[in-house]
Amino acid sequence: MTKREKIENIKSSKWINYSGAVDIIKELNDLKTYPKSTRMPNILLVGDSNNGKTALIEKFLSINPASFDNTQEEIICPVVAVQAPPEPDERRFYNSILEKLLAPYKISEKLDARQNRVKHLLEKLSVKILIIDEIHHVLAGPPIKQRKFLNVLKFLSNELKISLVCAGTRDAFNAIHTDPQLSNRFTPRVLKRWTFDKEYKRLLISFESKLPFKESSHLIETGFAQKILAVSEGLIGEISTVIKLMAIFAVENDYKKMTPDMIEKIKYISPSDRKKIIYKL
Ligand SMILES: Nc1ncnc2c1ncn2[C@@H]1O[C@H](COP(=O)(O)OP(=O)(O)OP(=O)(O)O)[C@@H](O)[C@H]1O
Ligand SMILES: [Mg+2]
Repeated sequence: MTKREKIENIKSSKWINYSGAVDIIKELNDLKTYPKSTRMPNILLVGDSNNGKTALIEKFLSINPASFDNTQEEIICPVVAVQAPPEPDERRFYNSILEKLLAPYKISEKLDARQNRVKHLLEKLSVKILIIDEIHHVLAGPPIKQRKFLNVLKFLSNELKISLVCAGTRDAFNAIHTDPQLSNRFTPRVLKRWTFDKEYKRLLISFESKLPFKESSHLIETGFAQKILAVSEGLIGEISTVIKLMAIFAVENDYKKMTPDMIEKIKYISPSDRKKIIYKL
């Protein structure tokens, strides 16, 4: 591999099957075969920003693609994922589902009609799970708006008899818990920050195994591993960034492996320091 190829290889994103994600993906898979009932189980995936929620959803989608059922001559789409709009706006929310299903919509269409069309389409495509990422966006704002959206979630969950998987930050969790009916229907699954344990060391081994070095950098050696964890503040996205920056630094400077002193050399700024810099502006 040339230097450039190596750097491109380092930059490309590669999924790591860490056990927390494997468990949640298995649970999501089980939702697909849950019998239709008026009380479908829903999951609320909670985690800090940059800690793997969207990556997990994308992985789950990739193993559940849409297919064509030859006997029924219909498209079957077991899992649909949408991003909640950046503000609590029901119309835009339904639009994002319609857009995902490649269904046209008219600006003038009434909310009820839009809602019914979403229902009809999800049924037609045999959707079993509707994933809504960034759910905290629509659960933000004044209580009246929050309640409106909690009702949207209730409508989807009760009327469609499909499972909802919502992903978001702790704010979403708090908002859902203001409604006892919904909080009974949503099981929270948390993507915790990484701590210094066996799982974290396994993660480092996996990251290292995907890099194009012949020599081992021994990322799991205590000093090195602790340093990476401290600067990344336990977020998988940051851990990935720090390792990738060190790997690129090593390749660019013709080192055969990564070493702990490179953390200072890559000019990486921790998430909380980034915030401090911005506040000082
Ligand atoms: N299983 C994984 N294997 C490898 N890298 C991962 C994995 N999960 C997450 N990452 C890395 O972490 C980064 C951040 O993850 P992701 O975008 O899923 O965070 P998020 O929780 O959705 O954050 P936000 O709340 O800001 O949307 C990804 O871009 C990817 O580089
Ligand atoms: Mg995300």
